[in-house]
Amino acid sequence: MKQLSVAIDGPAGAGKSTVARQVAKQLGLIYVDTGAMYRAITWKALTHGVDLTHEETVTQMAQRTDIRLSTDIKGSDVWVDGTTVTEEIRSPEVTAHVSTIAGQSKVREVLVDKQREMGRKGGVVMDGRDIGTHVLPDAEVKVFLTASIEERARRRYQEMIRRGYEVDLEELKEEIGLRDEKDKNREHSPLRPAEDAIHLDTTGLSIDDVISRILHLCRTNLGGE
Ligand code: DC
Repeated sequence: MKQLSVAIDGPAGAGKSTVARQVAKQLGLIYVDTGAMYRAITWKALTHGVDLTHEETVTQMAQRTDIRLSTDIKGSDVWVDGTTVTEEIRSPEVTAHVSTIAGQSKVREVLVDKQREMGRKGGVVMDGRDIGTHVLPDAEVKVFLTASIEERARRRYQEMIRRGYEVDLEELKEEIGLRDEKDKNREHSPLRPAEDAIHLDTTGLSIDDVISRILHLCRTNLGGE
């Protein structure tokens, strides 16, 4: 069977990672969470007291950093230079700073190279902001997932509460809105749908609905339906 590449892009909280992981599992593909890679570099810079606005230093640090993502379907483990940082990279502090690093073109180049290497042979479901437009422009299936900002804030709120953080729904909504603006308006690889992406608004849809729609697209592409 042909090795399919699936690109799933969209704003924060649209449900990309949950959906992408399940699609990968069902099709026996590898799942690559590219947001986790930007978060991993942000975590390392914060931990080592690196000035996040100093692009050259952050780029050099990114080049020397070994980022591993688990391909185990149950987990979403992330290692930086051999240390597990799965929980740490989801902290409010990392979340608040990650846009700074994601806006730096040289850092992006380093991470995009790593992502393309992971997707070189196909057989991947990759999620992020620029996968369909830039990282894997030849992906057979491209999906742009969205949801209303209220729904996305609610999902993030539930996730953070589950992780044990005290958060405020209104503040989260504001934060997500700000991050959307930064992701959409940045100079390098801004968040936007690829011309050939299928748009899917997940507001009011269950996770299972979204997964089955994407699986249908993938199977149609493989000629299985
Ligand atoms: O999906 P996430 O919230 O884990 O992403 C973290 C940040 O990284 C977010 O601000 C957008 C950025 N990002 C990006 O610029 N390009 C990607 N391919 C993935 C994430």
